[in-house]
Amino acid sequence: MSIPVVAFFNNKGGVGKTSLVYHLAWMCSISSIRILAVDLDPQANLTAAFLEDERLEELWDDSDQSQTIFGFLSPLIRGVGDIRSPECEVVEDNLALVVGDLNLSSFEDQLATEWPRCNDGHERAFRVMSAFWRIMQDAAESFEAELVLMDLGPNLGAINRAALISSDYVVVPLSPDLFSLQGLRNLGPTFRRWRQEWQERLKKGDNFPDLRLPKGQMETVGYIVLQHSVRLDRPVKAYQKWISRIPNEYRESVLGVGSSKRVSVENDPECLALLRHYRSLMPLAQEARKPMFSLRPADGAIGSHLQATEDAHRDFLRLAKKIVNKVGVPWSV
Ligand SMILES: Nc1ncnc2c1ncn2[C@@H]1O[C@H](COP(=O)(O)OP(=O)(O)OP(=O)(O)O)[C@@H](O)[C@H]1O
Ligand SMILES: [Mg+2]
Repeated sequence: MSIPVVAFFNNKGGVGKTSLVYHLAWMCSISSIRILAVDLDPQANLTAAFLEDERLEELWDDSDQSQTIFGFLSPLIRGVGDIRSPECEVVEDNLALVVGDLNLSSFEDQLATEWPRCNDGHERAFRVMSAFWRIMQDAAESFEAELVLMDLGPNLGAINRAALISSDYVVVPLSPDLFSLQGLRNLGPTFRRWRQEWQERLKKGDNFPDLRLPKGQMETVGYIVLQHSVRLDRPVKAYQKWISRIPNEYRESVLGVGSSKRVSVENDPECLALLRHYRSLMPLAQEARKPMFSLRPADGAIGSHLQATEDAHRDFLRLAKKIVNKVGVPWSV
């Protein structure tokens, strides 16, 4: 039995991936669901959101023993062994983090080289390709997490391919603009190709009974639209135009199915949420190193901000429940 892994992914940058993983991880954990958050973006923004600079300085000590994703991979990368047993950073009773690392980008080349070598049945190739998944499973088992939420960087590179074949479910955050819609056209076919290529490689992986490998399910759960902040220079009409195109574009590009009838985002079962842009509440939360829904007047959340914290609580609770239920984990409260 493995612990379900949910990836938040879009090759388009700045669509709210990291903020979603951060807020959903907190919302689940305060709702008594044990969560392992995993930062596989070499920019390590999720890690920086969770941890104070002083703690980060200790963790990013650049030694082989560092308790980060790169530290756990280190013996494998150097060719002197397999992954190290991971120790995750406990953030709160029900929430732990596999700490990200800027050095992770140096793993990209090996992941690219070993991908085709799986076809020839090389054991090392399978060890490298499954390393993220094995680290996540080991860490989740030792923390007794029920669910893994994974944050990724915005590209279609080898790190993200290895991360995505390690996922059971994928949530696609997007924003209603031309770039996001264009991005979906690359995302969907790439997704389907990676899933299929891993299935082919898995047949060769049967030869290593001691090595646990991810199934590469990569089932799409749906999309989340991050609304624009209200900007006077951006006409509402343009926003409406892009948002109305999302349901069909998602179906065609990501799900690979044609769709004849037009459905609006609000009525689209694939749309998990139309997420409000909380504007200045977000910087306030980042400053306080808390999720937006946990801000108090002492953190500066007064007046309309205080009302917005309650809205954020309601919105993220609804979204967290929806995702958790869709991936088959019981919502216990
Ligand atoms: N619901 C929200 N309300 C207000 N601001 C938001 C919201 N979601 C994200 N943001 C802000 O938008 C910016 C981009 O968000 P975020 O970093 O989460 O995106 P990302 O997809 O992870 O980006 P990248 O592709 O660079 O990793 C950040 O400044 C973040 O604080
Ligand atoms: Mg990010």
